[in-house]
Parts: sequence; structure tokens; C-alpha cells
Amino acid sequence: MRKEISPIYSYIESVLPAESDLKKQARLASTELGLSAISVSQTEAHLIQFLAAAVKPKKMIEIGTLTGLSAVYFLELLPPYGKLWTFEKSPLHVEKSKQTLQKYILSGQCEIVEGDALLNLPKISDQGPFDCIFIDGNKAAYYDYYKWAEKNISDGGMIIIDNVFLAGAVWGDQTLQKFNDKQISGMKKMTAEIFAASDFMSTFVPTTEGLLILRKK
Ligand SMILES: C[S@@+](CC[C@H](N)C(=O)[O-])C[C@H]1O[C@@H](n2cnc3c(N)ncnc32)[C@H](O)[C@@H]1O
Repeated sequence: MRKEISPIYSYIESVLPAESDLKKQARLASTELGLSAISVSQTEAHLIQFLAAAVKPKKMIEIGTLTGLSAVYFLELLPPYGKLWTFEKSPLHVEKSKQTLQKYILSGQCEIVEGDALLNLPKISDQGPFDCIFIDGNKAAYYDYYKWAEKNISDGGMIIIDNVFLAGAVWGDQTLQKFNDKQISGMKKMTAEIFAASDFMSTFVPTTEGLLILRKK
């Protein structure tokens, strides 16, 4: 998610190769919905793809599809027999992402799971464990997403969690965007548990929104 474009991101994006037509299509769809600010930025998407590539993923999970932009970055990493399950609650966002992800849905590499991710994640647990899990959905549910992810990640697998700074709300800055007590306390509880977990190696990446990266030992 991106609230304002930092000069650092502008510089990085002037150097990175241009996004493919498919990624541009997904970005345009989020702009048309008035939601371009919550699509992953090119800078962050490039970083997330680079990190995920390190685990050579075959089975991946994404929570929060929007228009399928970050999904395309992940799908580029998968072998032909690999699969990404991407979870999205909004029927409108599902419709838009189906347009972006059509070729991957037809090839069997992508399944959009419509509905509340928290209700639907347990229904696919038997397809796991998963090599990479990206959490970018409902901020109030992050703690519960993490509890599912820690049980369903493969040994050596990676969990990537976006927006963990809640635009500064975790350290008390509520000027950029308002978050409620449940969102803030859940994020803090999740972060504390992550750094106390002995079966994960974890670190922050201090992007504008804050990324947490966990690798299962
Ligand atoms: C930040 S956007 C995801 C952006 C996307 N990962 C990207 O960068 O291209 C968050 C998405 O999560 C979806 N969402 C919100 N609550 C959800 C829930 N309970 N279950 C599944 N998806 C949810 C929203 O509708 C929205 O499309």
C-alpha cells in the first residue's frame, strides 16, 4: 500500500524496467476503482518478488487480491505446475482481477478464492504446506492471518506481511490515516509474537508502509 510517493521510490522506479502490459492493466484497473494508493508500488512489488524468488515457490498464498497486480508478480515465479491461491472479499475486485489473471486461471496456476479470507483459508489447508504466503488483506485480521500462516508454511518457506507500520499508527502517529484500536493492538501483538518465535528468522524491511519478512527455519 502507498499513501504518498517518496522521492526514493520515484528514483527507484525511474531505474527499474517498465512494468509489463498485464501489470499496467492491473494498475489501471485499481486507478479506475480509485484505489491505486492501495496497490503495491512497483518498488515494493519488485522487492517482494525478489524475496519470494529465494524460496523457489511452487505453492503460494496471497491474502488481498485487489486487481491482481501483486498476484502477477508472484505468478511470474511459479513453474507451470505451481499454483497461487489468492483471497479476495470484494466481488468487484474479484471481477477486475479475473480480467488480469485470466491466462493464469486458464492454465490452472491461479485460483481466486472469493469471500472472507479468514473463513476460506482453513478450507485449503489440506493443499499445503505453502512455500510463500503474502498477507495484504483486512488490517484488523492480520493476527489471525499470521496464526494460520505459521501453521501452514513449509519448512524454509517465507511469509511476507505488508503495511505493518499502519501508516505510523503503531508508534502513535495517527495523522496520515486513522486505524482503530483492534487494528493497532492486533498488529502489535502479531509483531511481538513474530520476534519471539524461535522457529522463524524474521526482519523488518523499512519501506514506507513497513514489510515484515519471516523465514521458517
Ligand atoms: C491492499 S489491497 C491488496 C492489494 C494487492 N495485494 C496488490 O498490491 O495488488 C487489500 C485487498 O484486501 C481485500 N480484503 C479486505 N478485507 C478482506 C477479507 N476479509 N478477506 C479477503 N480480502 C479482503 C480488499 O477488498 C482489497 O482488495
